[in-house]
Amino acid sequence: MQLIDGKAIAAQVKQEIAAEVAGIVARGGKRPHLAAILVGHDGGSETYVAGKVKACQECGFKSTLLRYEEDVTEEELLAKVRGLNADADIDGFIVQLPLPRHIAEQRVIEAIDYRKDVDGFHPVNVGRMSIGLPCFISATPNGILELFKRYNIETRGKRCVVLGRSNIVGKPMAALMMQKACPGDATVTVCHSRSQNIKEICRKADILIAAMGQPHFVTADMVKEGAVVIDVGTTRVPDATRKSGFKLTGDVKFDEVSPKCSFITPVPGGVGPMTIVSLMKNTLLAAKGEVYGK
Ligand code: GUN
Repeated sequence: MQLIDGKAIAAQVKQEIAAEVAGIVARGGKRPHLAAILVGHDGGSETYVAGKVKACQECGFKSTLLRYEEDVTEEELLAKVRGLNADADIDGFIVQLPLPRHIAEQRVIEAIDYRKDVDGFHPVNVGRMSIGLPCFISATPNGILELFKRYNIETRGKRCVVLGRSNIVGKPMAALMMQKACPGDATVTVCHSRSQNIKEICRKADILIAAMGQPHFVTADMVKEGAVVIDVGTTRVPDATRKSGFKLTGDVKFDEVSPKCSFITPVPGGVGPMTIVSLMKNTLLAAKGEVYGK
């Protein structure tokens, strides 16, 4: 069994980005600038956004964090999105999800100029991704593809099972794995909360990607000997022995599953750091105008 070290790969990619940014700036070019909108004080969202701001520093990007209280109106938020769309200094921006219930998330996503949508959530980017056109690819699936590349994990012709059908991970992951590309070219099955025979389906998987947000859902009896297991889960499970009061818990029962795997990602330190790095890559692409021009 080989552990996939997302933290180490992420550090390597950030160094590569920082070197490229240093070159751009030395030639008189503009430093990439990412903005993030954070609404409320959800612990998970606070942590993710702080990680994104820190990664910007490490990559040599400028970052701007725009905070709003939980009671911000949808119109205020939409006005800020329009402002960022029009701000030439901002290369890309994200609105951290989830948003409070009184705000229509999809309306906010669709208000973002797709050319600055470095999360890859706008329907233009989702649609272009699904038919293999240049676009911003959503960060978590793209980070997983990067891990496959860097660990030389073959995906062509493999049976891939994706657990979960979220717009952020499951759906784009499935689309990318079936894409005529490398990584890609896999035979993909998607399972979700209404699927039957999930265990049997998982047992056939050469590559199992767990992204349903159910701690320890994947047990050893669901995993084929030699499978590649990617754990996207990051649920905060209460843990009184920790200073934070919680333990970040994956969708996979790591201790019993890992001995059966050829490769497996840990939680934390697997997919999480790669998600942030993918956002940095998209921001650099946006700054260079390499997807939609400038
Ligand atoms: N919430 C959970 N993951 C993400 C992400 O990748 N981007 C944004 N904007 N919000 C999220």
